[in-house]
Amino acid sequence: MVKETARAVEEFLEREIPTGRVLLLNNSGFGAYGNFPEPGVEELTEMIDVNVRAVVELTARLLPLIKRRGGVIVTVASTAAFQPTAYLAAYGATKSFVQHWSLALNEELRGSGVRTLAVCPGPTATAFFQRAGLKEGSVSDSLSMTCDDVVTAMLKAIAAGRSQVVPGWKNKVTTFLVSKLPKPLAARIAALVLAQFRMKKVAR
Ligand SMILES: NC(=O)c1ccc[n+]([C@@H]2O[C@H](COP(=O)([O-])OP(=O)(O)OC[C@H]3O[C@@H](n4cnc5c(N)ncnc54)[C@H](OP(=O)(O)O)[C@@H]3O)[C@@H](O)[C@H]2O)c1
Repeated sequence: MVKETARAVEEFLEREIPTGRVLLLNNSGFGAYGNFPEPGVEELTEMIDVNVRAVVELTARLLPLIKRRGGVIVTVASTAAFQPTAYLAAYGATKSFVQHWSLALNEELRGSGVRTLAVCPGPTATAFFQRAGLKEGSVSDSLSMTCDDVVTAMLKAIAAGRSQVVPGWKNKVTTFLVSKLPKPLAARIAALVLAQFRMKKVAR
């Protein structure tokens, strides 16, 4: 499936936009809230396929084209990447994977004309929470950003040649502090916060 998609993208670009730099945006992804293995093994493995496998495979298949033309590979991770996330355990781990993978790839690609950017948004007003099995409004509006805010931060980071961006000052402070903690302590604190979402779970 990813193979066919990559071929279709390549053919489209060669036919319709044969020159110029390429921006690959690895954005598709979803979360799944619950006590492991809730909400089910099929849902969890599909999530790993979309959040991790498709990102790595699509990028690998399109990389020769992007190298020929130059460009940027943007991958949407999350603030969930910065600590273990109980009740979103597999989701957080997929985001840690793509965050580390994107940063490592940026080093491998130095001097090639291709850069990568890991975007790590915090709560953002989209269909994400509902898809993850949580009620609308699970995260208070004061903590939530808009898609426009996140995209603006992403575009500024591309222009500045950065390899990672955490949009929003609240998310920047939280991720900075949490990254200083021992992982087991960060896991405990995140579990206490994320356990609150149990009250906001919806039937799937
Ligand atoms: N919203 C947040 O609070 C938040 C925070 C941090 C990171 N993120 C990340 O931001 C990215 C975008 O999510 P969003 O917030 O915009 O949520 P969203 O509104 O639910 O959008 C999810 C996107 O992923 C695609 N997708 C979902 N399941 C898929 C599947 N099985 N196969 C192919 N595509 C699939 C959707 O495509 P269709 O529209 O075709 O279904 C849609 O484009 C995700 O990687 C998410 O992990 C979100």
